[in-house]
Amino acid sequence: MNNIVLSCNGVAKSYNDGALNVQVLNGLNLQVGEGQSVSIIGASGSGKSTLLHILGGLDMPTSGSVNLMGNDLGKLNQKQLGDLRNRYLGFVYQFHHLLPEFSALENVMMPLLIGKKPKAEAEAQAAEMLEKVGLKARMLHRP
Ligand SMILES: Nc1ncnc2c1ncn2[C@@H]1O[C@H](COP(=O)(O)OP(=O)(O)OP(=O)(O)O)[C@@H](O)[C@H]1O
Ligand SMILES: [Mg+2]
Repeated sequence: MNNIVLSCNGVAKSYNDGALNVQVLNGLNLQVGEGQSVSIIGASGSGKSTLLHILGGLDMPTSGSVNLMGNDLGKLNQKQLGDLRNRYLGFVYQFHHLLPEFSALENVMMPLLIGKKPKAEAEAQAAEMLEKVGLKARMLHRP
């Protein structure tokens, strides 16, 4: 396989809901290589979102480990996790979470600005991305 960019090892997740313990993930191993596309398929409630949150460092597994670009997520603090997410991860949610008071261009620029990219550079890069997906004419529109 190509370089591994994302992997997890023995990931388990359970939720404690009062007296009920729900075991959602149980010893899950996964490796994703550079340039690879992977789909996670399963019935509603089977744990897809739970897994994505854990792979993205938004939630921690009950046991097991996750590695993103050579970093063991369990060993990072919130600031380091945030930096890593900002650089290497993108989430497309079921429902859009755009910032209503900003234009499409500004919404796309936001992660770059948070990542401390100079404004002109962020703007050029965001414009290029929007053009790629056919949204050039909508760049200055709000959501
Ligand atoms: N915070 C929580 N506390 C208790 N149980 C939870 C919590 N979050 C999720 N669960 C339970 O964990 C299981 C997996 O939920 P999850 O949302 O990961 O499923 P899913 O595969 O993404 O479902 P869907 O296809 O409907 O999006 C479900 O049984 C759900 O009720
Ligand atoms: Mg889900």
